[in-house]
Amino acid sequence: MKPSSHVAAARRAPAPSSPGSSPPEGPPRRNVIAAFFAVIIGGIVSLFPLAAGALVFLDPVLKKKPGKATSEGNEGHGSDKPFLRVASLDSIPADGKPVQVPVLSDLVDAWNREVNQPVGAVYLIRNGDEVKCFNSICPHAGCFVGYTGDRNVFLCPCHTSSFELDGKRILPSPSPRDMDALPVDAEKLKQGEVWVQFMNFYPGKAAPEVKE
Ligand code: FES
Repeated sequence: MKPSSHVAAARRAPAPSSPGSSPPEGPPRRNVIAAFFAVIIGGIVSLFPLAAGALVFLDPVLKKKPGKATSEGNEGHGSDKPFLRVASLDSIPADGKPVQVPVLSDLVDAWNREVNQPVGAVYLIRNGDEVKCFNSICPHAGCFVGYTGDRNVFLCPCHTSSFELDGKRILPSPSPRDMDALPVDAEKLKQGEVWVQFMNFYPGKAAPEVKE
């Protein structure tokens, strides 16, 4: 063999490893590590669209509930229920005779909205430009209270609770409290419209407690 051939062979031959030294890293191990990180990063990246989709789907559920006591009407139950239009002022007799009107509202759950659905009824009592409003539900056990024109009182047909036109109980009474008064929007009244803050209350309690 020529001297130059010995030199070339020595350059191609791997360096001898000394005892106790780690083996050299070869291409296969580097590929495994790169594949591992690719899987991890790919998994993280693919989670973003999934998380965004889940947030869009759950959006109505996750929306923050409004806070308490944002509106205080003339009766002030500290509720954040919205005011709803129930009548025009002209449609109510100005002589103090009660009229019962339905309350319509949009029913909304997490994914659906049903417009103008009946949610209850109220009595409106107008004296001049002043309007008082009472929920039609009896505070005793939840029946609808009627109005008897001959006695000029509210009367519940279930257990005969009766109430004056200002909502006060006529004692003795099965009802533990007066009729539930509801706030009327004074500004809307000036514009000839009757808007009330409609709320339902738990029956059978001595003090009104708003149902959420
Ligand atoms: S529910 Fe009205 S008196 Fe009992």
